[in-house]
Amino acid sequence: MRIAVVGTGYVGLVSGTCLAETGVTVTCVDVNNAKIELLNNGGMPIYEPGLAELVTRNREDGRLFFTTSLKEALKDADAVFIAVGTPPDEDGSADLHYVLDVAREVGELINDYIVVVTKSTVPVGTNYKVKGVIQAALGKRGVEVAFDVASNPEFLKEGDAVNDFISPDRVVIGVESDRARRVMERLYHAFILNNTPIYFMDILSAEMTKYAANSMLATRISFMNDIANLCEIVGADVEAVKKGIGSDSRIGKKFLNAGCGYGGSCFPKDVKALIRTGDDHGHSLELLKAVERVNEKQKSVLFRKITSHFGTDLTGKRFAMWGLSFKPGTDDLREAPSLVLIDKLVEAGAVVRGFDPVAMEECKRRIGDRIEYADNMYDALTDADALIVVTEWAEFKIPKFTFIEKALKHKIIFDGRNIYSPEQMKEFGYMYYGIGRKD
Ligand code: UGA
Repeated sequence: MRIAVVGTGYVGLVSGTCLAETGVTVTCVDVNNAKIELLNNGGMPIYEPGLAELVTRNREDGRLFFTTSLKEALKDADAVFIAVGTPPDEDGSADLHYVLDVAREVGELINDYIVVVTKSTVPVGTNYKVKGVIQAALGKRGVEVAFDVASNPEFLKEGDAVNDFISPDRVVIGVESDRARRVMERLYHAFILNNTPIYFMDILSAEMTKYAANSMLATRISFMNDIANLCEIVGADVEAVKKGIGSDSRIGKKFLNAGCGYGGSCFPKDVKALIRTGDDHGHSLELLKAVERVNEKQKSVLFRKITSHFGTDLTGKRFAMWGLSFKPGTDDLREAPSLVLIDKLVEAGAVVRGFDPVAMEECKRRIGDRIEYADNMYDALTDADALIVVTEWAEFKIPKFTFIEKALKHKIIFDGRNIYSPEQMKEFGYMYYGIGRKD
């Protein structure tokens, strides 16, 4: 089995490498020469735990290749995966031009049957656009080559992507011919042997599954954040409520953590895009519009707590910020709640000294000297008026409280991810502000 994967971003690189690990011969293609050179020289363009080792092993074993030539990658390929970016347009819809450019090039190059698999997250109906573009390119060449399109959405979490790919809850594949289905079955053979559920369905449903999954998860988070805010008002504790409802097997325990809002490159973009699809079809997705509003508001929840403690003028105040990335396990800052909070604190006159185990360089690249950068988590605390926890990295969960106490001006913690216990904080003499907890 031989495949080409177009796009060596996060999705393409993880998917291509993990498929190589199952025995498939994979050629990854990217237009970015520097990236391909880096990968061919053993470097990694992204931070993803466990991925570098897999790339090295599969390259050395002769199953994983990197090139800038789509033509070379398509040679003898049974399938080509499109895994290029779909950045949001200004109006929230996904910009499909990279996906459709690849489709056109595929149509210009293929000479034998191939399955064109869309891995990028694309709005419902995009696979038919891909099909149309390939047909048009073949028409221009005046040749007839049989091909099929397939939708194979990814469900990878940043920071856990390798594991999510190798041991998925399920694989969703949208196809419209038996021939394409057989190719996809061969490609996912290792997963079938492993008893991983593989759900074949029609293409539109596969495309919709991806958006519905992310939107459902975002809905759970906004729901819990809304409940957390009410808990604070009535004097309940959202962590107790989470246990109480999560133990109901119909609800389940996962993705019920209240916090300072969801971020990343997926939930915000996909919720927006699905809302847009609904609007385009004259069906307003009211629930998702509320999910988005609640999340926007939630990204300011720590700032509201900080200003109700210190007042709205924060001139002369210093804050230690632990965690900058949108979640642990990644250096990704896209739509990160930390950025919203930094803007608000700096505008109110405060100085922020940040620390993140991996996202420091990325943060410098994005916001430069808008904040100070600490050498380590304790250095961030020097002379700070309070500690703010924005991302729940493991090392922040069991800190040396004696170090915190020595460095902070006041024993105050704003905990945007509920990683500490209010009772323990009280015992240690801290003024503690969590999310949806009894202060
Ligand atoms: C998400 C989905 O979880 C993946 O299944 C999907 O494949 C991916 O998007 C994608 O579409 O590519 P990801 O964005 O990497 O993955 O991160 P998540 O772990 O889902 O977290 C998203 C955000 O939700 C983070 O800001 C996180 O802090 C927040 N979150 C998560 C909460 O606030 N509470 C929770 O209980 C869980």
